[in-house]
Amino acid sequence: MEKENVLWAEDVLKKVTAKMAQVYERSKDKIPYTTVNGVHDDKSVDDIGWWTNGFWGGIMWLMFNVTGEECYRKTAIENEEKLDKLFLNYRMLDHDNGFKWLPTAVANYKLTKNEESKNRAILAADNLAGRFNSNGEFIRAWNDWDGDDIDRRGWAIIDCMMNLPLLYWASETTNDPRYRQVAVKHANKALKNFVREDGSVKHIVEFDVNTGAEVKNYGGQGYKDGSSWTRGQGWGIYGFALSYRHTGDRNYLKTAEKIADYFISNIPESGLIPVDFIQPADVTWEDSTASAIAACGMLEIASFEECSDPDRYRTYGLKLLKALTDSRVNWNENEDDLLLKCTAAFHDEKHEFSIIYGDFFYIEALCKVAGKGIHMW
Ligand code: GLY
Repeated sequence: MEKENVLWAEDVLKKVTAKMAQVYERSKDKIPYTTVNGVHDDKSVDDIGWWTNGFWGGIMWLMFNVTGEECYRKTAIENEEKLDKLFLNYRMLDHDNGFKWLPTAVANYKLTKNEESKNRAILAADNLAGRFNSNGEFIRAWNDWDGDDIDRRGWAIIDCMMNLPLLYWASETTNDPRYRQVAVKHANKALKNFVREDGSVKHIVEFDVNTGAEVKNYGGQGYKDGSSWTRGQGWGIYGFALSYRHTGDRNYLKTAEKIADYFISNIPESGLIPVDFIQPADVTWEDSTASAIAACGMLEIASFEECSDPDRYRTYGLKLLKALTDSRVNWNENEDDLLLKCTAAFHDEKHEFSIIYGDFFYIEALCKVAGKGIHMW
C-alpha cells in the first residue's frame, strides 16, 4: 500500500476512533442493527437471532486492535456471550452462523486463544456444515419462515460465500478436513451456478433438493429477477477472494476478479453505489454497505501475490472508500450512526438508513488500508 494512502486511512481511523469512543459509551450494553433518530436500537432485547448480531462485536474487536483499549475487548466478549442463547434453538441457527460467530468467537479465538470461543465457533461450524445438501452440493440458506409456506429447502444465496470462512477456520483449527470439503463443494457450486458470463452474480438460486439441478433463480433483495443487487456483488467479490485465501485455488481468485471487474465497470462517476446496478434510472437509492463490502473485497484481491493487477483492484477499492469518506459518513459524535445511505433490500419500504454491517465493513476496509486489520474471515 502506498504511504500516502496508509497515512490517509490512519487519519480517517483517528476520526472514527474519536467518534466510536462516544458511541461506545451510549451503546456498550446493546447489540445494534440500526439507529432511530441517531440512537442505536438493541437487537439483544427482542431479536437475538437476527443475522447481523455479530457485527457490533466485530467492530469492538477492530476498535480494540486499533486502540488497545480494554473496554472494547470486554464488550466484544459480552456480544459473543449473548449469542449463546441461539444454541438452544435450532431455528435461530442458519447459514448466517458465519456472520454471527466469525466477527465474535473466531476473532476472539484468533486474538486470545480463548477455549470457550473455540468451542462456540466449532459448534456453529458443525451446525453450518449440517446444512449441506450432499446430493445438490450446496448449503441451504434459510430455515422455513413463519408466515408463509414457501419451500426454501433448495435455496442457496450468494451471501453464503462470506460464511464459508467459518468452515475453513474449523478445518484449520481441528485438522478435520470435513468442514473444508463442504465449503469447497459449495464454493464450486456457487461458481458454476451464481456467476453469470458478464461477471455479475445472482442473489438466490433454487436447486432441486434431490438432484442439485438449478430450478430457478430470484432477484431476492435486488430490483428484479435477473438483476444485479450490488451488495450481492460485494458478497461475491469478497467471498470468492476469501475462498482463495483459505484454499489457494486460483479459480476462486479469477472469479473474485471477474465479479470485481463487472462491479468496477458499473461504478458511477460519483463513486457511490446504487442498490442494484440495473435499477430504473429515476430511482436514486444507494447502498453504502455494498460499497464498503466491495472495497474490502477489492483490497483483499489486491493483497494476493497471484493477483492479475493489484494496482487496479487497490485503486478501485480506495475509490469506493474515499467516496464514502467524503460524503457518506456522519461525523457527528452525538449521533450513533456512522455510514449513511445503507439499504437492506430494494423492495423494502425504507431505504438509505444506518446499518451496522455498513459501519463494520467501512471500518474493516480502513483498517486494511492502514495495515491494522484482523483476519477474522
Ligand atoms: N445477508 C443478507 C443481506 O446481505 O442483506
